[in-house]
Amino acid sequence: QNTYLVGGELKEWKGANAEVYSTISSTKEYKPTLLGTVPDLTADEAIEALNASLKAYDQGQGLWPTMKVEGRIAAMEKFVVQMKTKREEIVKLLMWEIGKSLPDSQKEFDRTVEYIYDTIEDYKQMDRDSAKFEKNSGVHAHIRRGPLGVVLCLGPYNYPLNETFALLIPALIMGNTAIFKPAKHGVLLLSPLLEAFRDSFPAGVVNIIYGRGRVLATPIMKTGKVDVLALIGNSKSANAIQANHPQKNRLRLVLGLEAKNPGIVLPDADLDLAINECIAGATSFNGQRCTALKILYVHEHIVDEFNKRFAAKVDALKFGNPWEDGVKLTPLPEPGKPAYIQELIDDATAKGAKVINKKGGETTENYIFPAVLYPVSKDSRVFDEEQFGPVTPIVSFKNIQEPLDDMAASNYGQQVSVFGSEVKTLAPLIDTLVNLVCRVNLNSAAQRGPDVYPFTGRKDSAVATLSVHDALRSFSIRTFVAAKDTAYNNA
Ligand code: G3H
Repeated sequence: QNTYLVGGELKEWKGANAEVYSTISSTKEYKPTLLGTVPDLTADEAIEALNASLKAYDQGQGLWPTMKVEGRIAAMEKFVVQMKTKREEIVKLLMWEIGKSLPDSQKEFDRTVEYIYDTIEDYKQMDRDSAKFEKNSGVHAHIRRGPLGVVLCLGPYNYPLNETFALLIPALIMGNTAIFKPAKHGVLLLSPLLEAFRDSFPAGVVNIIYGRGRVLATPIMKTGKVDVLALIGNSKSANAIQANHPQKNRLRLVLGLEAKNPGIVLPDADLDLAINECIAGATSFNGQRCTALKILYVHEHIVDEFNKRFAAKVDALKFGNPWEDGVKLTPLPEPGKPAYIQELIDDATAKGAKVINKKGGETTENYIFPAVLYPVSKDSRVFDEEQFGPVTPIVSFKNIQEPLDDMAASNYGQQVSVFGSEVKTLAPLIDTLVNLVCRVNLNSAAQRGPDVYPFTGRKDSAVATLSVHDALRSFSIRTFVAAKDTAYNNA
């Protein structure tokens, strides 16, 4: 397709298109499949999209930011009803574009629909308009919650629907206007939704543009007219994009970034449970989740047994195309990923680690089988670099202070999983862990859901908080009317 959405119009792009390939091969002999094309827009269209959102916002005086709550809810509901008719098409695109398994693709779609409905519900309940009387001063305050302005929104490839909407929906419902640019992969699935966006929202409230981040985001930011940068991705891109804003103090950030979530297995852990959860945490969607378990610390008393069983279970995972039954590992959407993972494996093995599972590192054109590495030395790249792919480093520890010190020294701080059964040991440990990360998972894999809970991170892992509830606050500001005047207060 060659259309994009700006100012309430589906525009035909006459310039060059970018081809979108799937690394899933449709022939026996490996050849990436051409799935479609998207416009490769230029700075002119980017500025056109910015102008459309500025016009719709109109310094807070536009139709959308001043619209009554019911109006914005009705627009959201209209959109989601149309979106639901596209389930099959979008699920198919998730499988082909990013290699997500059929059950996970269906889950991503359904979770997103639920996310929208839950956001609407939360928005209805929120303290948008509350009154407070402060006796000593005699001031009546009418506190409100309102929009921030124009949001530039950039989504990731691993959850191209869910994460996109986790930013866009709360931003829009709070009365902001938005320009959205999807990632390089997982980009075609927005096309079936363009008409629904156009039909549900007033012109310019949501603008969807396609192309390279540098070409589109840079000129938009340089104008200094963006109020919020909302991005799920890596800190390098986030830094590069925000650096273009001429008055950075004016820019609010809502960022979901990298993580290096550890799994810590204590000597008294239920080993079966710990292994199963660590497998799910480390390998689901090939480890391409910011919430994945990206390093495992196993106590030295149990590490041999843990490693043997963990490695065997990883080897038993089925690799195949996303629609095949029971498939857990699927082709990687980024063509360069197998080579990158191989680099990490080579670096770690050169520094003393071994690949402890039989199939670890086996490669085909579009895949590299998850490698389990042990013992990984602290000067290995994979020890602190976010691998975002199929490789799991394991280190053993004698004293719990070792993983705690590593977490304290890490650049990241999203979440941790801790496996153990002794309440006496766990309780004080949890009190420390919550000060190092933002979510502690007890005897379970790290993850983002349920989506009603706050999703954020410390250090380079996040700025601001997402989730159904918190995102509404991240994309808004509290204002108030202060009055002593009884005529106003009684009105
Ligand atoms: O990549 C980050 C996603 O938000 C992960 O979500 O934990 O539900 O897979 P998830």
